Amino acid sequence: MILPIIMAGGSGSRLWPLSRQQFPKQFLTLFGENSMLQTTANRLAGLQHKPPVVICNEEHRFSVAEQFRLNNIDNSGIILEPVGRNTAPAIALAAMLAIRNGEDPLMLVLAADHVIKDEPAFCHAVNQAIPLAQQNQLVTFGIVPTQPETGYGYIQRGASLADNLGFEVNQFVEKPDLATAENYLATGNYYWNSGMFLFKASAYLKELKQYRPLIYTACEASLADTTHDLDFIRINQTVFETCPDESIDYAVMENTQHAVVVPMDCGWSDVGSWSALWEIQDKDADGNVFNGDVIGINTQNSYVKASEKLVATIGLDDVVVVETKDAILVAKQSEVQQVKNVVEQLKSQQ
Ligand code: GDD
Ligand code: MG
Repeated sequence: MILPIIMAGGSGSRLWPLSRQQFPKQFLTLFGENSMLQTTANRLAGLQHKPPVVICNEEHRFSVAEQFRLNNIDNSGIILEPVGRNTAPAIALAAMLAIRNGEDPLMLVLAADHVIKDEPAFCHAVNQAIPLAQQNQLVTFGIVPTQPETGYGYIQRGASLADNLGFEVNQFVEKPDLATAENYLATGNYYWNSGMFLFKASAYLKELKQYRPLIYTACEASLADTTHDLDFIRINQTVFETCPDESIDYAVMENTQHAVVVPMDCGWSDVGSWSALWEIQDKDADGNVFNGDVIGINTQNSYVKASEKLVATIGLDDVVVVETKDAILVAKQSEVQQVKNVVEQLKSQQ
């Protein structure tokens, strides 16, 4: 049975001022009633699976536990990282703990902060990937790209696999520059890496040990004296601090010879910016998404979110306005990625 591993350790600075260090994107309720994390866990309902393992930063443990409790979601443990060392170590900790329990589960690695509109299509692709993962392949789920986005991994599709389950991976390139991404799009045989994976715990660890032995040994040593209280699993801070900081994409996926890709056409978005959030939502006749107490006069193609106060806009095109208790963002849609520069400035002032 599948063991979902939900990675919830990101800082999500691109949705500032709503997302904060204490309350990053995965814990926000951006649509409907549930947070991104809750939605990620609920989405598993269409699959045969064990309760998910969550891996997150120590400082977010109560947000995770509370959000699971509120939705009556079971878990198989909440692994707490004393410091963030990115996704390659995070996944390694989950894999090593599973194997230590005498199991070698198929791990469905999920980001806690993605939108997926078509849940049956998501479940279908995961089920299709199961026999591939059972054959010790590292399965990635590929999304057909629509623009030369540089924040994603790109997967060059190779030969078709038996039974049309997916494709070999000729090349995996994490976050290429714009010119390279444009070339990839023009060739038509690249997918975006969705950031979701399915593999046996042992298959992942074998590759990690081969390509990033330092990450492997640091994670192994960090688990030498774990402590458990409630659902929380704590690891050795001093040792984990010595672990190299690297994502699974650079550490393993760019290097492995055992990657395959299963296409996933499920209305996926990683909601990497306010504009991405505007894009995926239903708009009014003027192309606007208004959220909260908003009056828009002669305003087009804009995203306006009011949290605490009434927000009124007049004569604006292509803007993002996000009002929160202690900060207001006003930006051009096309430049909204630069909120990360605001966050950096704020950090340097602290
Ligand atoms: N536990 C834990 N610890 N989780 C982490 C950590 C960490 O140190 N760092 C990031 N995460 C979580 C984030 O919360 C998110 O859910 C997921 O891991 C992916 O991390 P991101 O930082 O959002 O990665 P990315 O968006 O830059 O790139 C990845 O996702 C893209 C698709 O959204 C890559 O896999 C790309 O190849 C992919 O295209
Ligand atoms: Mg992301």
